[in-house]
Amino acid sequence: MKYDIKDIKLAPAGKKRIEWAGAQMPVLELIKARFKKEKPLKGVTLGACLHVTAETANLMIALKEGGANLALCASNPLSTQDDVAASLVKDYGIPTFAIRGEDKKSYYKHLNDVLDFHPQITTDDGADLVTLLHTERKSQLKEVIGSAEETTTGVIRLKAMLKDGALKIPVMAVNDSDTKHMFDNRYGTGQSTIDGIIRATNILLAGKKFVVAGFGWCGRGLAARARGLGAQVIVTEVNPVKALEAVMEGFEVMPMDTAAKIADIICTATGDKDVLTMKHFKLLKEGAIISNTGHFNVELDYDGLIKAAKSRRVLRNNLEEVVLGTKKIFVLGEGRLINLAAAEGHPPDVMDMSFANQALGAEFFAQNQEGLEVKIYTIPEEMDQNIALLKLNAIGVKIDVLTPAQKKYLESWHEGT
Ligand code: ADE
Repeated sequence: MKYDIKDIKLAPAGKKRIEWAGAQMPVLELIKARFKKEKPLKGVTLGACLHVTAETANLMIALKEGGANLALCASNPLSTQDDVAASLVKDYGIPTFAIRGEDKKSYYKHLNDVLDFHPQITTDDGADLVTLLHTERKSQLKEVIGSAEETTTGVIRLKAMLKDGALKIPVMAVNDSDTKHMFDNRYGTGQSTIDGIIRATNILLAGKKFVVAGFGWCGRGLAARARGLGAQVIVTEVNPVKALEAVMEGFEVMPMDTAAKIADIICTATGDKDVLTMKHFKLLKEGAIISNTGHFNVELDYDGLIKAAKSRRVLRNNLEEVVLGTKKIFVLGEGRLINLAAAEGHPPDVMDMSFANQALGAEFFAQNQEGLEVKIYTIPEEMDQNIALLKLNAIGVKIDVLTPAQKKYLESWHEGT
């Protein structure tokens, strides 16, 4: 079996972490048990480019139980859990190509390694694999049934490809399921970003001026959790509706040019580039901490900052002191997504639903090989609702059911005042 990982001897530690995470993922467990019986992915080759974490390992195991041949690479050079990668190879026989801290060249080598398996279904977190397929590996496009996309940033990229007429394969926007973005993006990013910031710095958040750039699902989760720890949260936005929501949620809202001057900590969560540039770095006060939790490291201009720095030194893992003129500022995780760079990403309980969507998305492609259009699909609403119901069952929460009269009332327009 081909693979490229840091050290196979790390497998025993990885296996225990995979098992612990799996125990918090009851919905995926149910899907895995069904997949084991029904083998809906029998004979299908699936290439995945995801954060190589204990949670992803459980998705891979479920897909393998479903009969898929798999290959996995990392969707970010800094997010791989090397012990998990080792266990995937040694204990589960899944070809894995991922080493934490890999450089850009080996990151892309690993994506190409996965495409060498000639996947019929691909799964991305950020759309790098799909982009490679559409650029350097075009001849393989005809082999692909469809591709699933995990994250907001990836879906934005794919929509841009579709608009440009560049997209050549059907795509499933897993991110757009309610049971994905309303939970993973909000509660997952909220908690894991705070976790990353604290692991990198060990600072107290209570009383700090904490600036969240972007009030999408991720930003609002982060803002809520920072407030929960006693921070004075400031939100920056470009969208008037989202800005108004932030105001009515009780957050201070202001332009970044103003926020940068008073921030103790800034974390970007916008999905766009140039949110923090040299202009802002110059405005920061002494000791300010800057970080990003968006998918790509384009939100803050780390390279520009490093170029302008008088000196720099690493104080702790993922915490770098940068001297700019006479001022010290601190950058976390080189501006990469801090929840996976400094912590372990979203907790398994929430990845449970995200990866239930991924597994069902792969099944959807395998079952509907004929007649799919080149467009961006979403998981059918009934499946999305069913994932929520399974999760509620798993955590022992019961809900009401509409009576026939209530159902009829909702479907008719005759009854009014
Ligand atoms: N994205 C965010 N958190 C993650 C995790 N724990 N595993 C895989 N992908 C993630």
